[in-house]
Amino acid sequence: MDIKNYIEENKERFLSELFALLRMPSVSADSAYKSSIEDTARWIKEALLAAGCDKAEVCETPGNPVVYGEKHVGDNLPTVLVYGHYDVQPADPVALWDTDPFEPVIKKTELHPEGAVFARGACDDKGQMFMHVKALEYMVKEGKLPCNVKFMIEGEEEVGSKNLGWFVERNKEKLKNDIILISDTGIIAKDTPSITTSLRGLSYMEVEVTGPNKDLHSGVYGGAVANPVNVLSKMIAQLHDENNHITIPHFYDKVKEIPAEERALFAEIPFSLEEYKKDLGVADVQVEKGYSVIESSAIRPSLDVNGIWGGYIGEGAKTIIPSKASAKISMRLVPDQDNKEIEALFTKYFTELAPEGVTVKVTSLGGGPAYAMTIDNDGYRAAEKAMEKTFGKRPIPSPEGGSIPIVALFEKELGTKSVLMGFGYDSDLIHSPNEHYGLFNFFKGIETIPYFYEYFVEIHKK
Ligand code: BES
Ligand code: MN
Ligand code: MN
Repeated sequence: MDIKNYIEENKERFLSELFALLRMPSVSADSAYKSSIEDTARWIKEALLAAGCDKAEVCETPGNPVVYGEKHVGDNLPTVLVYGHYDVQPADPVALWDTDPFEPVIKKTELHPEGAVFARGACDDKGQMFMHVKALEYMVKEGKLPCNVKFMIEGEEEVGSKNLGWFVERNKEKLKNDIILISDTGIIAKDTPSITTSLRGLSYMEVEVTGPNKDLHSGVYGGAVANPVNVLSKMIAQLHDENNHITIPHFYDKVKEIPAEERALFAEIPFSLEEYKKDLGVADVQVEKGYSVIESSAIRPSLDVNGIWGGYIGEGAKTIIPSKASAKISMRLVPDQDNKEIEALFTKYFTELAPEGVTVKVTSLGGGPAYAMTIDNDGYRAAEKAMEKTFGKRPIPSPEGGSIPIVALFEKELGTKSVLMGFGYDSDLIHSPNEHYGLFNFFKGIETIPYFYEYFVEIHKK
């Protein structure tokens, strides 16, 4: 049976299985969900066995478990390692969801006329990861698996994959592969298929500014004592200049200018500024001076405050000078910027920005380096050919601004490249309320993956 017919015959079952996976609230950021994390890991192990893996296991780590599975078909055949993550972002703010984040429903939208599954993790990354499990099921059942396959599905991606280095270092032989295949990114559009060729890195910091040793009456002390919230706001405001460049000294030292040919390619990526603004409900964009929206959000570094708190935020007025103020600040990095080095540059500069009268504490919450791949390798070519086959159109290489820190680590520790063949849309609201994943995208992914295997084996042999 061909893959299209197989999907047609098993559609309803695929969706009901995906729904079961989405009902488990495997939020990695919040330890209250620990038992759900464990349930989800076990569920995936069973799903891998049911799909035809010879063996699958839940591997303990110092953090959340990694699910590993494999199907060996021949010693002389190449091995594809599939990576994905079963943990999801918190559903907050829950009140802004139209439906329960952990009770999946199918609804139609303008971009998804066939319907989309609405649930936390639908696109990032349970729905995308599960496409690989179902594609494996097809290949095994129909005797069409042309090479060896390994699965490594982790449970801490959304909190920075802190323990994955530990796991990879200890399991190099087990994870040995010829190519890594990941669906945790997107395509530009249904009629503009694309393969992600770069991801940004990340340095994530938390800062705390302390002023007086207790909250004070702002009438009695206001005007005389440094207010940590005022001070923190001013410090943050100094992190960008009027051209939206980041002001941290030496921040750009290792950032390469984008070559003209590459800029010309990016300029060809279909993009409507009007739709972009309309979709976000903003009157204008705010880019780094001299760069386009695509460049600013994918291949230039950026710095953002993710959260800020301090002082009184309850109902009504309370007049105080707070003792402390804090913020979470993240920087997206580009190739050659070292995330540890950037942490040190940030810490030095931010500490120097503090006036007398407050103390500053800066801590790192993790991160990782950027990743870039060229299009002249077997993995990219196989993905290109597979997508061309199923979309009827040759995919274009496309940079993306998100981060999957483990990809750079895989390259360093295992020596292999990762092909980022994702199927989501930017507008699928990952990390936001009402996250969804299109049925078209889900089934198109399942349809495309077996061709990737077929073409990779073919291309790799030559
Ligand atoms: N799947 C995303 C990464 C992504 C999103 C890549 C959009 C390309 C386009 C991943 O799950 C994610 O959210 N990563 C975090 C990493 C962080 C928690 C270390 C991110 O980018 O913020
Ligand atoms: Mn993801
Ligand atoms: Mn994510």
